[in-house]
Amino acid sequence: MEEKIINIPFLEYSSWNELPQQQKELLEKAAQACRSSYAPYSNFNVGAAVLMGNGETVSGSNQENAASPSGLCAERVALFAAHHMYPAEKVVAIAIVGSQNGIVTGDFTYPCAACVQVMVESEKRSGAPMSIIVGSASKVRVIGSVNHLLPFSFSNIPAE
Ligand code: THU
Repeated sequence: MEEKIINIPFLEYSSWNELPQQQKELLEKAAQACRSSYAPYSNFNVGAAVLMGNGETVSGSNQENAASPSGLCAERVALFAAHHMYPAEKVVAIAIVGSQNGIVTGDFTYPCAACVQVMVESEKRSGAPMSIIVGSASKVRVIGSVNHLLPFSFSNIPAE
């Protein structure tokens, strides 16, 4: 028997302005996307913006429903739309921002486990790591691959 330990590498920026320009713009698009969130039940608005290999971005926001399981998180709204619009393109990065009453949250808004599972498959489809850019009102964390968030993931896609 042997104990094995997994480390999670990530970058932490002390402000949005410190990010490389492309990532900063993606995070700003995620923040803008919060405005189209439909969240009358939680009053928690989430915006996500996906950068594709062709340079296009696709954004999404959480869409709730009175029959709660029928709603969808911002990340999946954005990722599914991105794959629908550009099925042959890689996903390069996804930025995520949470806000309440129009103000970006002080805490990081990490993707939920269901969204991470969807990201695992996006990364597999892309055949390249995607960055997950998680915003808060001040700091930003950038995780370089979904594998770091879910190292032991379910997949029935055969390895190439
Ligand atoms: N939400 C997201 O949009 N993304 C996440 O990763 C976590 C949660 C949404 C779902 C629900 O509309 C609201 O945030 C409160 O849970």
